[in-house]
Amino acid sequence: MKAVGATAGKLKLAISNDDVRSAVTSGAFPGGEAGSAAQKPALSVDGVSVIYKTARGSHTAVDNVSMKMEPGEFVSILGPSGCGKSTLLGVVAGLLPASGGNISVFGEAVSGPRKDIGVVFHQATLLPWLNVLDNILIPVRALRRKDRDYEKRAHELLELVGLTKFAKYFPNELSGGMQQRVGIARALIHDPSLLLMDEPFAALDAMTRERMSLELQDIWRASGKSVLFITHSIPEAVFLSSRVLIMSSSPGRFVKEVTIELPRPRTTDTMSTGEYAALCGGIRKMFDL
Ligand SMILES: Nc1ncnc2c1ncn2[C@@H]1O[C@H](COP(=O)(O)OP(=O)(O)OP(=O)(O)O)[C@@H](O)[C@H]1O
Ligand SMILES: [Mg+2]
Repeated sequence: MKAVGATAGKLKLAISNDDVRSAVTSGAFPGGEAGSAAQKPALSVDGVSVIYKTARGSHTAVDNVSMKMEPGEFVSILGPSGCGKSTLLGVVAGLLPASGGNISVFGEAVSGPRKDIGVVFHQATLLPWLNVLDNILIPVRALRRKDRDYEKRAHELLELVGLTKFAKYFPNELSGGMQQRVGIARALIHDPSLLLMDEPFAALDAMTRERMSLELQDIWRASGKSVLFITHSIPEAVFLSSRVLIMSSSPGRFVKEVTIELPRPRTTDTMSTGEYAALCGGIRKMFDL
């Protein structure tokens, strides 16, 4: 069995038309048990499609996708390369326009970038001329708020991601994993309620990736944020998530949902349990791996 963080490679989907039909006719995937009827969903995606118009013509990247996430949930999306995961994350983040459908975050429609969303991409893209502390404060400055109101929080986040000693270091003095942790701290500085992560550990080696999964779990548990996490790694998705949503190949639609009920906190011992292996194996079979 591959360790958490080992690259699952290109996923080839082996889902029958019946699976697709049952998922589509069910309309939307409901949230987990964490939410109550009175609570507004952290994220609601309702019939969202994205059609790219290029010189080569129109391309439907995301086709009539619906899902819900309750506050505090950790939901992963797994799907073959090119199925539209990043596109969907882009429209949820308000960075790309949807061609149809509705998206709301905590009950408010998304029509552009929002203060209550933090985004982490697979490269930290830190500004090389700013030290770690100043990089973490970038969203504060973008929101035209005062640094001094956030410096204490920046130091708390540095502690959370294990970089207390590195506040004054510059990005080129950090390893890839450390840079990614700065990226996570930067995404959390303005205290967003929803964290969107697009393959945040993709550029890391397998061991660093495994450690980052453990750290992300700690951060999520300590902060109570809702996290939408895109990954190609089935073990990583199972390890971290409350639910895993599986997308079909292009154009992307959600075709399966797997609830992960492994007890928390999950540890490296969790990865050796039969239950964990069975969950990974079950999802792997859906992709014919
Ligand atoms: N800016 C764009 N213009 C035109 N087509 C695009 C654009 N961005 C993505 N696409 C197309 O939309 C589809 C979905 O792309 P997307 O990047 O969302 O896939 P993905 O699931 O994130 O893939 P990967 O797992 O490889 O990151 C692909 O067919 C891609 O070629
Ligand atoms: Mg992508």
